[in-house]
Amino acid sequence: MTNQHATDQRATAILSPDLDDVDAARSWRDSFADVFGVSRGTRAELEAVLPTWRGQRLTGVQDGGRWVATFRSWRGSSTVPGGALTGHDPLDARSVPSELVSTVSVSPTHRRRGLLTALMRDCLDHARATGAVVATLFASESAIYGRYGYGVASEVADLTVAVPQARSWSVASTAAPGRLRLVEDDDLLDVGPDLFEAARLRMPGAVGRNEVGWLRLLERIPAPEADTARPPRLRVVHEGQDGTVDGYARVGLDERWEDGGPAYTATVHDLTALDPRVAAVLWRFVLDLDLVRSVTAEHRSPADLLRHLPVDGRAVRASVRDGHWWRVLDTPALLSTRRWSAPGRLVLQVVDPDGPAGGTWRLDVDEDGHAEVVPTDALPDLTLPVHAVPAVATGVRPLPLLAAAGGLDEHRPGGVALLERLAHVAPVALAGVQGF
Ligand SMILES: CC(C)(COP(=O)(O)OP(=O)(O)OC[C@H]1O[C@@H](n2cnc3c(N)ncnc32)[C@H](O)[C@@H]1OP(=O)(O)O)[C@@H](O)C(=O)NCCC(=O)NCCS
Repeated sequence: MTNQHATDQRATAILSPDLDDVDAARSWRDSFADVFGVSRGTRAELEAVLPTWRGQRLTGVQDGGRWVATFRSWRGSSTVPGGALTGHDPLDARSVPSELVSTVSVSPTHRRRGLLTALMRDCLDHARATGAVVATLFASESAIYGRYGYGVASEVADLTVAVPQARSWSVASTAAPGRLRLVEDDDLLDVGPDLFEAARLRMPGAVGRNEVGWLRLLERIPAPEADTARPPRLRVVHEGQDGTVDGYARVGLDERWEDGGPAYTATVHDLTALDPRVAAVLWRFVLDLDLVRSVTAEHRSPADLLRHLPVDGRAVRASVRDGHWWRVLDTPALLSTRRWSAPGRLVLQVVDPDGPAGGTWRLDVDEDGHAEVVPTDALPDLTLPVHAVPAVATGVRPLPLLAAAGGLDEHRPGGVALLERLAHVAPVALAGVQGF
């Protein structure tokens, strides 16, 4: 069963699965799972995610009653630099309405016929019409999304720590007053969401974690029958002197013995704090675990505090890659929402041949880092393609390098340097990067 959703000009019928019919939802999900070569999952898993999906936009294309393409999106928000990252008000957090795109698949039998293009256009039109400032996704294949105007807005890092080397620290482990307490997953569900939300609002590009995201993190999806076979998990919270929880971590222990001695790996599923000193205490807790010889923490930010803690520069290895990609839909809304690092005035031209984000604007930043962004007929100081705008908005890439690589066109000498000064951010990440 499907509902007619919209129709592409090239007669690709874009449909939505009827989510009140579990079998219809299952056939949509199975089509995606088959293309990605991942488990189709259980009925219990599907039933756990269905309530969340009902608030989202699921689309796809069918051929002969079978799904041959899937696409899912929903409204969230994406972090842009606020005062904490630009040297202004440390409590000022900023984000823009963002359409989160996921579950993109086209069956191998139906590739290269424009199905993805039709589904993407349908999604971006909807997102723009309903007030999204950007659309955001994580790319499985990085070569695909540039053509739709997406550009990298943040990066992610998988961190591997050699524990003996990492135990030499550059900061005192007792720097944050308070205590650590072991808890259960239910306790993390009580304190975690607010802490994570506050921490991710200090990480440019980041998105929040919804209920399904929490349930997946706590390994409650797939269903709890897996519990008995599950290796041990440690959950720890840090309490400040007044007893308020200001950080937490969830860590898996993988047992391994080598030459008769312990060689465990600790896998950090999540570690979040609001204060760098608390994050340092939590990382220290993980690295000091007995039996453990290595620690892995995937999907962190390249700006993660952990990278800066050990004195030994090789103790933490980082594998860094593209994280969130943004398709900018409303350039002035994006540039006037972020906080800027220095005052100044620039005329920026954005080129977006197939999309809504192009134009020329005067950017006027005051002493407090607030920008006025107004359309202008003046000659631009700089011209940039739409896929370079996320870097300007989040500071993910050094703009002079972007200019040197041909991604920014400078019409007035000093224009790139001025934009770099205005756009500069100094992120320190105290949470992981939420995928979707
Ligand atoms: C990637 C995928 C969604 C593309 O779907 P599709 O319907 O074949 O895409 P379209 O026909 O609309 O092609 C759009 C353009 O992207 C290009 N393209 C598609 N897949 C590509 C890939 N993997 N690498 C590079 N370019 C690709 C096409 O050549 C086409 O280019 P053109 O407009 O210059 O001709 C599909 O191949 C797929 O599902 N792959 C496996 C799962 C996957 O990687 N999903 C992406 C999740 S992030």
